Amino acid sequence: MEFFETVFGRRTIHNYLPDPVPTEVLDKLLSAAHMAPNHKLTWPWRFVVVGSETRQRLLPIACELKKATSPQVINKIREKLLNPGALIVVTQKINGDDFRQKEDYAAVCCAIQNVMLAATAEGFGSKWSTGGLTQHPSVCDLLEIDLSQETVAGFIWVGVPKSTPTIDRPPLDGHVSYLD
Ligand SMILES: Cc1cc2nc3c(=O)[nH]c(=O)nc-3n(C[C@H](O)[C@H](O)[C@H](O)COP(=O)(O)O)c2cc1C
Repeated sequence: MEFFETVFGRRTIHNYLPDPVPTEVLDKLLSAAHMAPNHKLTWPWRFVVVGSETRQRLLPIACELKKATSPQVINKIREKLLNPGALIVVTQKINGDDFRQKEDYAAVCCAIQNVMLAATAEGFGSKWSTGGLTQHPSVCDLLEIDLSQETVAGFIWVGVPKSTPTIDRPPLDGHVSYLD
């Protein structure tokens, strides 16, 4: 896929079909992530690829967070957690002073965008999420993330879209100024 087609074609996908993401594709997405710029070559990103067995174990935590009790709601949460073909959890290694951590977070965000653009280029949908589940201490325990050493930058869900939302983007000119 051509570069601008990829950039303009990427959309946050909320609902996925239960189709797998091939390992070769996942490898490409992670390789793209590792090509992100990072100041002082701190390479601050870490990736945890979370399989369905571990994702199954996220379900009770997610249900508790949402106070979900009805089978319909629990089923919806199960679909959200298990349908996407892949889940990549992205963390940032804690390192240095506040400014370095800000720069490192920026680098991790570049890595995440690389994953999502690579997913689009490979014909898959993606979503970056930072909701309560992604920061929950029990989730970090389950994912073997040591919060004294790293912070969670987000979950990247990747898979085959069930539907693709459209969003209204405000006109670009309200976000740009030109100086002589
Ligand atoms: C840092 C960050 C965190 C996000 N967290 C969430 C989230 O927790 N849940 C969600 O539905 N979307 C999340 N999104 C996706 C945005 O809602 C989405 O990018 C926005 O609606 C624009 O849509 P687009 O990605 O299709 O352009 C997040 C995006 C960013 C950049």
